[in-house]
Amino acid sequence: MRFCCRSLCHINCVIANVMSTEYDNKNAVQGYDESLAALSYTSPGYISNMLAGLIVDIENAKVLDLAAGTGWIGQGLYKRGFRNLDAHDGAQAMVDYCKKTGIYKDFFTCFIGDGHSLPMKDNTYDAVTCSGATVENHLPPCSQGEILRVIKPGGFFVNGYRGNLSETEVEYAKEWHAEAERLEKEGKWTLYGRLHFRKYLTISGGTIDITRLIRLACDEDLDNLSSLQPAIRAHGQQNTIANKLSHSRAPPQLVIAPF
Ligand SMILES: C[S@@+](CC[C@H](N)C(=O)[O-])C[C@H]1O[C@@H](n2cnc3c(N)ncnc32)[C@H](O)[C@@H]1O
Repeated sequence: MRFCCRSLCHINCVIANVMSTEYDNKNAVQGYDESLAALSYTSPGYISNMLAGLIVDIENAKVLDLAAGTGWIGQGLYKRGFRNLDAHDGAQAMVDYCKKTGIYKDFFTCFIGDGHSLPMKDNTYDAVTCSGATVENHLPPCSQGEILRVIKPGGFFVNGYRGNLSETEVEYAKEWHAEAERLEKEGKWTLYGRLHFRKYLTISGGTIDITRLIRLACDEDLDNLSSLQPAIRAHGQQNTIANKLSHSRAPPQLVIAPF
C-alpha cells in the first residue's frame, strides 16, 4: 500500500514509509511474528486479560483490535471468549494475515493519523485495544481523538506500550500523553487505570493504559452499555452526569490472570 501523495503532510509520509517497508509485505509479516516470539512479547496477553476483567458480556462485546499487526491481541481475546472482534491495520499484508486467523469478523485497512479518519461510525465499539503502535512513526498522538470517537460511552481503550517510551522517544511520549490529558480535561475520557509490568519484551518493561469514555449524557447512551459490567449500568441509571463521572474514576475490577 502506498500512502505518499502530495496531500499528506510530511509526518504522514514518514509513517507511511515505515509501514510499507516494515509491515506491508509477506516477509515482514513472517519476520515480525518470529522476532516477537523470540523476544517473548507479553503485552497482548496482559491486554486481553485486562479487557476480560473489565467486560461482563465477553462473547458479545464488540472490540476493535487497532493496528492489529498479525493479530496477537485478537488471539488472546479469542482464547478468553471474545467472539465479536474486528481487525484494523494500515498495512494490507497485516490485515490479510489477520483474515487467515479466522478470529475476526470485519477488517479495515486504513491509515490513522493527521487528517485520516477511521471508517467506522461514532460509538461503534465497547472497547478498542492496541499494542506496540504507541511509538514514533506509528500512531500519531492526534489519532487518540479518532480512537475515542469510535468507542461507545462507558467503553474502554486498552493500550500497551514500552515502559521506557518516555526515555527513548522523549518528544513523542510527551505529545502522546499531553494529547491524552487534553482529551481528559475536555471531559471526553479519563485514565481509568495504568499497569506497569516487568516484561513487555525480554529487553524492556511495559505499560498498559486503560482509558474510559465518559460521555454518559442521555438515556440513549445508557442503552449502548449492554456489554459492560452491571454495576456500571446501574450506576449510570442514577442519571446525574456528576455521579457518572465520579463512577468512571472508580478503580476497575481487574482480573489479571497468568497467561
Ligand atoms: C509494532 S506493530 C504492532 C502490531 C500488533 N498490535 C501487535 O501487538 O503485535 C505496529 C502495527 O501498527 C500498524 N500501524 C502503525 N502506524 C499506523 C497508523 N498510523 N495507521 C494504521 N496502522 C498503523 C503497522 O502497520 C503495524 O502492523
